[in-house]
Amino acid sequence: MRKGVVVNIEATLKSVAAAVEAAELMSGRAVDGCWASIGGNNIEGLISRGVVAVNGKSRENREISQKDVERVLEAARAVDFSMDRQILEVIPLAYKVDNQSGIRNPLDMIGVRLESEVHIITCSMTSAQNLVTCVNRAGLHVNGLILQSLAAGRAVLTEEEKELGVVLIDLGGGTTGVLGYSQGTPFLQAGIPAGSSQVTSDISIVKGVSLEAAEKIKVTAGCCWPPLLQDNPEDILVPGSGGRAPLTIPRIQVAQIIQPRIVEIFDMVREKIAPHTEKRVFGGGVVITGGGANLLGIADLAAEFFKMPVRVGSPLSTGGLAADYCNPSFATAVGLVLEGGARENESGDHKKKADIRLPEFNFIRRFFDWIKREFF
Ligand SMILES: Nc1ncnc2c1ncn2[C@@H]1O[C@H](COP(=O)(O)OP(=O)(O)O)[C@@H](O)[C@H]1O
Ligand SMILES: [Mg+2]
Repeated sequence: MRKGVVVNIEATLKSVAAAVEAAELMSGRAVDGCWASIGGNNIEGLISRGVVAVNGKSRENREISQKDVERVLEAARAVDFSMDRQILEVIPLAYKVDNQSGIRNPLDMIGVRLESEVHIITCSMTSAQNLVTCVNRAGLHVNGLILQSLAAGRAVLTEEEKELGVVLIDLGGGTTGVLGYSQGTPFLQAGIPAGSSQVTSDISIVKGVSLEAAEKIKVTAGCCWPPLLQDNPEDILVPGSGGRAPLTIPRIQVAQIIQPRIVEIFDMVREKIAPHTEKRVFGGGVVITGGGANLLGIADLAAEFFKMPVRVGSPLSTGGLAADYCNPSFATAVGLVLEGGARENESGDHKKKADIRLPEFNFIRRFFDWIKREFF
């Protein structure tokens, strides 16, 4: 995948198949469905409004019913999109009943006119289809797609942070997701087509080492806040490849390569949140998650840059092999499990609604698996 979209179906489906196999081995359970996340700069968000007349629960009871709420959300969904976009999430932000605005949950209130304000998030249809095709060809069916940063937020943010307002930065390999919460709901989303893998290629180019060596340098000795290296300025030894002599690189030099790239990504994040900082407060500060959040000094640099309190967000423990997944790298995966589970509980009929499996691929794989089992 590159910048959040599938660029090589064959390679991506192999990765998916390998991940599923590992999960099956570890859990001792067969997996045939999944929730997949999608991110990147093919994602767009817009705020839309819908209005309906309240029907009430019955002729005598004019309280707003679940049906009214569903109708007013449906009305807000009626937005003109270009043909190549599909709706990924519809997030209710607030309701207005007659003249009273800012209502979180209008159920059971009495009124004549119900208005909704929703955050509609769309993604490119071809990007979504390519992703689903890959997963299907690896033998899995996709229960549904979930916005990447929304899943990560579910795993790492506290209710209090979401209430106070918080900016989630999901720093991945090829993409960085930004999700802004206000009064408990995500009202702002942006996908940035840059991420931590750029840091790796910078190190590789500037130091003339392979991408693998550069990645290793970043993960084991990388830092983006030089003051942290004052007491620990040792050199990094890179083994020479192809008969070349080994290389010694001062750690501070690597930090000087990494920092500007991270600042550049933060700059793009700031650009996305700047239009909102006047009207909204982010009392919960900034939370950074995703694999890139493991970089040494990232919270210090972000605090200095955004002038807000910053923490690194790891998934909170949900039992099991806690130590292994309580790492920012697994924020999206843990969030998908939590959010996917919640959506399945919410609507028992999710399979009917969101079944986007292409059945023939699944069938062919099962058929070959059967042949392999029976005859080889
Ligand atoms: N310990 C670490 N230090 C610095 N960077 C890391 C570390 N672990 C992972 N990364 C970086 O995180 C990125 C992957 O983030 P991840 O959230 O797993 O990917 P994505 O969300 O894009 O699928 C990679 O660029 C990787 O180099
Ligand atoms: Mg990630």
